[in-house]
Formats: sequence, C-alpha cells, structure tokens
Amino acid sequence: MSKPRVAVLLSGRGSNFVALREAVERGEVPAETVLVVSDHPDAPGLAKAESFGILTAAIPHQGLKRREHEERVLAALRRADVEWVCLAGYMRILSPLLIEAFPQRILNIHPSLLPAFPGLDAQQQAWDYGAKVSGCTVHLVDTGVDTGPIVMQTAVEVEGLASADELASRILEQEHRIYPRALARLLNEPWRVEGRRVVFVKRAFGSAAANG
Ligand code: GRF
Repeated sequence: MSKPRVAVLLSGRGSNFVALREAVERGEVPAETVLVVSDHPDAPGLAKAESFGILTAAIPHQGLKRREHEERVLAALRRADVEWVCLAGYMRILSPLLIEAFPQRILNIHPSLLPAFPGLDAQQQAWDYGAKVSGCTVHLVDTGVDTGPIVMQTAVEVEGLASADELASRILEQEHRIYPRALARLLNEPWRVEGRRVVFVKRAFGSAAANG
C-alpha cells in the first residue's frame, strides 16, 4: 500500500522539517516526504531538503497577491500529488484556497501551549508574561492565526531557565518530538473533528481505519 505523500512548507531554518524527515526515515511515521516548498528561496530548510534529494519549490511572494502566491503553491502541491501538508515555520497565513484544497490535512506546529501566546515570538511572549509553564502545540490549520483544533501538546517548565532563548531551545526539542508523533497518530489511528476537538476513535478489534 502506498504511503501518504506529505509536503512541508517552511520559510526558514527547517529544523522541524528535518525532524519529520528523520522520523519518516526511521519508519516512525508511515508517510513519504515528497516536497518542500518555501516562500524564501534562500531558506536554509530548502537547502537541507535539496541535500536529502527531496523535490523543492521556491515560490517567492514578493509582488504577488496572496491568492496568486497560493495558487502557485497549490499547483506545486498538486504536481507532486501531495495529500498532507505540514507547516514548519511557514510565515504566511493560509487562505481558504489551500485550506479547502486539503480539508483537515494541513498541520502546524506552534511554540506555545495554545490558546496562550498565538502569533509571532510565542516563546518571548511566554517569557515576558512570566508564565511558569509553556510548551508547544500541533494543530490542524484553519484560516485563523494558530486557532485550529489541537492534535497534540507538550509542556515545558519555565522555572529555572535564564532567558527566552533558553526557553525557545527547550521548546524546540519538544517540537521535534511531538510533530512526527502527531502526524503518525493521525495517519495510524481513526479520528474525527467534533467542534474544536480532535477525537481519536477507539477501534473495535479488526475494523479498518476511518480516517488515517
Ligand atoms: C518553530 O519554533 C515552530 O514552532 C514555529 O516556527 C519555528 C520554526 O523552526 N512555527 P524551524 O524552521 O522548524 O527550525
């Protein structure tokens, strides 16, 4: 049976992409990473993907309306027969065009325990707020900013850390653990979305996956 074809969209460093890719290579995620797309042609994550021999597409957004840019991204995803999309440091808000093209098949990782500290610089926000616990969240993507149904979260203690940078690196270690796990869970287990909730359905022995 062929494995689900996953694309990663990124704008920068790409460490979450590398973590996903490595988990796929270790056989921990039943998927294929087939394409990496970036809106920044010089994103280090794009170069990493090339070094792994993965198909890449640099699609700059300068001079394009959001819809025009997304149409190009969507065309690249279609050409590569992509079924799932993982946002990994992709610094653009998706419009309904992409969301509707991959209903409940777009994931994002965010470096806070949502709904706390959505948007940019979430680690700095948590630090400045004096939070005692922060963490990271994998969620399905909707048209809001970090608002989609939560798939997986993990907490990181802030107490004892010296700076927002240290918090960010502790959170990043956890991001690299939970992003592959969240994707694997969605692919391995039946689930559905009920309101805001991603519900993993207990499977009766012998029955087939409904969604994965
Ligand atoms: C991560 O902190 C992720 O949570 C956020 O953007 C950052 C991307 O880092 N959405 P990387 O490019 O995966 O290293």
